[in-house]
Amino acid sequence: MVTGAARGIGAATVRRLVAEGYAVVAVDWCAGADATPYSMPTRRDLELLSDVGDVLPVVADVRDRGALDAAVADAVSRWGRLDVAVAAAAVIAGGQKLWESAPEELDLLWDIDAKGVWNTAAATVPAMLAGPEPSGCRFVAVASAAGSSGLFHLAGYTAAKHAVVGMMRGLAADLVNTGVTAVAVSPGSTRTEMLERTARLYDDASIDDLVSHQLLGRAIEPEEIAETIAFCCSPGGAVLHGSVVHADGGFKG
Ligand SMILES: NC(=O)c1ccc[n+]([C@@H]2O[C@H](COP(=O)([O-])OP(=O)(O)OC[C@H]3O[C@@H](n4cnc5c(N)ncnc54)[C@H](O)[C@@H]3O)[C@@H](O)[C@H]2O)c1
Repeated sequence: MVTGAARGIGAATVRRLVAEGYAVVAVDWCAGADATPYSMPTRRDLELLSDVGDVLPVVADVRDRGALDAAVADAVSRWGRLDVAVAAAAVIAGGQKLWESAPEELDLLWDIDAKGVWNTAAATVPAMLAGPEPSGCRFVAVASAAGSSGLFHLAGYTAAKHAVVGMMRGLAADLVNTGVTAVAVSPGSTRTEMLERTARLYDDASIDDLVSHQLLGRAIEPEEIAETIAFCCSPGGAVLHGSVVHADGGFKG
């Protein structure tokens, strides 16, 4: 299962996992052009993923635990098992100092970016533990460079992404000796709609301004993060249990 699957890093991850032979439940809220706080993909964007292989598109909001439970049940009834979950769904909001930010902004970031990952883990991990091969099962949360560093005028997003890292550490502790593993992947500036939106939050900074914070000297492509995530999902990814994979091109704050 991949959440946030309709575009960006989530969509690239679906394509990568399909290329590696996975069947994928692709979950996205498909909130469309009028979404809060900015334009989101549509159901059509999600459904296009069916063209790449064995993909089951499911329109669901990660704030809705029942909808995630139903998506997991669909996957298990269709394919008999759930091996991997990638929690990539998130939004970004900010642009002001913490004390000038609207409280509703923190609620939105907390509910989607942090609790959405919690809900995804709560819905998927039991199916992995009950499956035929828990030692092959992986939970991967997409955090951010903001999961380890404080980003200017993004206190709410920074707090939510730190929470995602903390959640993966706590989940890893709870999964002790089960074979199922949990890891956070923290991308740097990656060429997606979210990056464009982030640049606009900084008085119309350019993508190049954001990219200047990484030693790599260029934007990361979603396919590059998908490749990292796919490794985390693989048998070899087991050794990353409880850790944070910094896929940030050398983020220097
Ligand atoms: N792009 C970057 O530079 C960057 C850097 C660090 C971390 N990240 C993280 O990578 C992940 C993917 O981001 P992206 O850059 O691909 O962004 P994106 O905006 O291109 O894609 C995010 C996807 O999540 C979906 N989504 C949002 N809220 C949802 C909800 N409530 N329920 C279900 N789906 C929802 C959106 O519809 C969209 O398809 C996010 O967790 C983001 O925080 C991105």
